[in-house]
Amino acid sequence: MLEEGKLYIGTSRNPDDSINKAEYLDLKYANRHGLITGATGTGKTVTLQILTESFSNAGVPVFCADVKGDLSGIAAIGEYKDFLEKRAKTIGLDPYEFQEFPVIFWDLFGEKGHRVRTTISEMGPLLLARLMDMSDAQEGVLNIAFKLADENGLPLLDLKDLRSLLAYMAGETEKLSAMYGNITKQSLATIQRGLLVLEQQGAEHFFGEPALKISDIMRTTNDGRGAISVLAADKLMMNPRLYGTFLLWLLSELFEELPEVGDSDKPRLVFFFDEAHLLFDEAPKILIDRVEQVVRLIRSKGVGVYFVTQNPLDVPETVLSQLGNRVQHALRAYTPREQKAVKVAAETFRPNPAFDCFEAITQLGVGEALVSTLGAKGVPSMVERTLIRPPSSRLGPITEPERHKVMAVSPVAGQYDTDLDRDSAFEMLARRAEEAAKAEEEERHREEEKEQERPESRRWTLPGYGDDDDEDDRGRSKSSRRKSSSRKRPGYQRQTVTEAVIKSVARSAATSLGRALVRGILGSLKKGF
Ligand SMILES: Nc1ncnc2c1ncn2[C@@H]1O[C@H](COP(=O)(O)OP(=O)(O)OP(=O)(O)O)[C@@H](O)[C@H]1O
Ligand SMILES: [Mg+2]
Repeated sequence: MLEEGKLYIGTSRNPDDSINKAEYLDLKYANRHGLITGATGTGKTVTLQILTESFSNAGVPVFCADVKGDLSGIAAIGEYKDFLEKRAKTIGLDPYEFQEFPVIFWDLFGEKGHRVRTTISEMGPLLLARLMDMSDAQEGVLNIAFKLADENGLPLLDLKDLRSLLAYMAGETEKLSAMYGNITKQSLATIQRGLLVLEQQGAEHFFGEPALKISDIMRTTNDGRGAISVLAADKLMMNPRLYGTFLLWLLSELFEELPEVGDSDKPRLVFFFDEAHLLFDEAPKILIDRVEQVVRLIRSKGVGVYFVTQNPLDVPETVLSQLGNRVQHALRAYTPREQKAVKVAAETFRPNPAFDCFEAITQLGVGEALVSTLGAKGVPSMVERTLIRPPSSRLGPITEPERHKVMAVSPVAGQYDTDLDRDSAFEMLARRAEEAAKAEEEERHREEEKEQERPESRRWTLPGYGDDDDEDDRGRSKSSRRKSSSRKRPGYQRQTVTEAVIKSVARSAATSLGRALVRGILGSLKKGF
């Protein structure tokens, strides 16, 4: 059943249940994306597991999310089970061999895998707005915040950085509105509150450094197998929006970072998007359009994207039409709505005169699916009723000790597990603020000396030096009052820091950080600029 350049999925049956033929996924067309659908308990996760195994054996790295914890078994060698053996026999899989796979576990919370982080800057305003379910007005303001930061080379690493920037903006709404368009204090406050909520939901674990390096999910082993990155998503699923946004961010990172490769013998990476409906639920049209665009274009970067969801109707039509390789498990068709879904599912296949697709979808057994993959010249194969092969790795979860063992020997062990203790943005900002303040101080000294050279000036007190009284202060603008009070205070407050940095950057365009950043389709940073 091994065929060069093809992944064995399972064996199809004739209408009389006799064995028909082996069904394959052609590696050459694996970057034309795919879709795995079916009602709960019909075999989607096992299909994902066997596809992942096959990709890994073919030297293709895979990224997938483990939504229920039952995919983690892919890191352990398979175990004998009657029903698996029986399936192997039915489909003529002989020998049925067990195998363990090279797995890297990842976890946004750092509990069940290596920590995955990104920075606020990297994520960009579009996805962040989605994450916080912002109104158009709020998103507009967030866009301005990013523009301000990007143009001034101000790194926004974590939620606190963004918060301090927003606080600065709140103090300068008038000036900034004139430069960038309307900014209301109300929108700023709503965004601030949104950030707080995010923090409470644990998103702050996810924003910071060291940020995930894409190359770490594209590894292969010495014996030529693709590494399988498994994202622990059981806890993450409690915040579906964070889950969806995270996967979108990763997709957009891949898209922005990887070079064009055109069509090749096999993909460079396969990305499984489980519970894909979460990505599209209530998504604004612009986001769906952008996702559609990324999915379309990422193909030529050698990335295959496979959506896994219950119902093909969960995926917008424009995206659905780009998913060439299809595995449809059973669906129920009792209600009119369910019938509609089955009808849509049936209509997406190239028909097989031997059976009725609609009927077949409702009658498929567990671990059985309608399969159609792309063949020569990218033409979809005629749909076949296919018994999916049993997995070679363990069916079901691994134990915690097993997981820790896998993590301990992982190629990224130690790389992401602790927060990076290098010069962080906060320190960089503080230093720059200090320099800016020092320069200001020197300037003032010079002016002071000049003043004192003129005898008549001695009669006047110096505002902002602690010798001005409140009477003086009242007449001045709010911002200059804040500036003078910050001078008196030792140490730097975040808000003052950001403010000083923006000012200092604005003064000298040619600073080491002062290069404007460029954003891609989904708003994440473009590399190599
Ligand atoms: N290809 C297969 N060979 C043998 N048994 C299978 C196969 N596919 C599924 N099964 C059996 O069906 C069970 C359920 O499959 P699976 O967990 O993949 O369903 P699912 O569609 O992912 O369900 P859910 O939507 O609840 O996540 C498996 O635990 C296994 O016992
Ligand atoms: Mg499942």
